Amino acid sequence: METFQYWSASDLDDLEQRYRVNLVNSLSGFKSANLIGTIDPAGVTNLAIVSSVVHLGASPPLIAFINRPDTVERHTLDNLAATGWFTVNQVNVDCWQQAHQTSARYPRAVSEFEPTGLTAEFSETCPAPYVAESRLRYACQVVEEQRLAVNGTVMVIGRIAELQIAGGAVGRDGYVDIEALGTVAVSGLDSYHRTRRLGRLSYAKPGAPARRID
Ligand SMILES: Cc1cc2nc3c(=O)[nH]c(=O)nc-3n(C[C@H](O)[C@H](O)[C@H](O)COP(=O)(O)O)c2cc1C
Repeated sequence: METFQYWSASDLDDLEQRYRVNLVNSLSGFKSANLIGTIDPAGVTNLAIVSSVVHLGASPPLIAFINRPDTVERHTLDNLAATGWFTVNQVNVDCWQQAHQTSARYPRAVSEFEPTGLTAEFSETCPAPYVAESRLRYACQVVEEQRLAVNGTVMVIGRIAELQIAGGAVGRDGYVDIEALGTVAVSGLDSYHRTRRLGRLSYAKPGAPARRID
C-alpha cells in the first residue's frame, strides 16, 4: 500500500514561501517550454521563458499564456501593450539552458538575446523577434487580455498569424512530432525534460477502446 504525504489547505498556507512555490508549481504536471519574443517601440527586443502556454482553439487558431501580475516591471506585458505582437518559440534540447537564463531580471534596456547568445530572426509578418534556435515557432497578434480577478495574473490571448516548423516533423494528418524536434518539457519551475512517446491513440468513442495509430 502506497503512503501519501498530506497537506490541508491551511498546511499549504503555512508552508515556507520557496517550498510552497516549488510544491504548487509541480502540481500541474509536465508543461511546455516556450520563449515569448517581443519588441518595444524603440526596437529593444525581449525574451521570456514561459511554461503556461495553452491551446485555446483551432479555428480561429488561438494561443494563450499567463503572465505574472505586473506588480513589478513586466517587459513582455509592456511590449504587448505597445506593439500588440509576440512570437512563441518552442524550447529544445539544444537551447534549454539559454532559454532558462531569460527568466533573469535584466534591465529593460538589455535584450535577453545578448547575454544568452540566442539569435534573433525577423519575418515580414511580425515586428517581434523569433528565436533562430527554435524549431517550432509562430507569430501572434494579441486579440484579448484578461486580468484574472483572483490573483492579478494576465491571460494574454493571441491569434496565430504565421507558423514555422522545421522540415519533416509534420505528419500527413497534421500532427507535429515535437519529440523529433527535440522540444523539451518543464516540471515545477526549474526542471527540464526530454520526452519519450508512449503512443498515439485514435479518437475515443464510447463502446470501443481507442486503437494505436502509430
Ligand atoms: C521554467 C519557467 C517557466 C516560467 N513560466 C512563466 C509563465 O508562465 N508566466 C510568467 O509570467 N513568467 C514565467 N516565468 C518567469 C519569467 O520567465 C520571468 O519573470 C521573466 O523575467 C519575465 O520577463 P519580462 O519582464 O521580460 O517579461 C517562468 C520562468 C521559468 C524559469
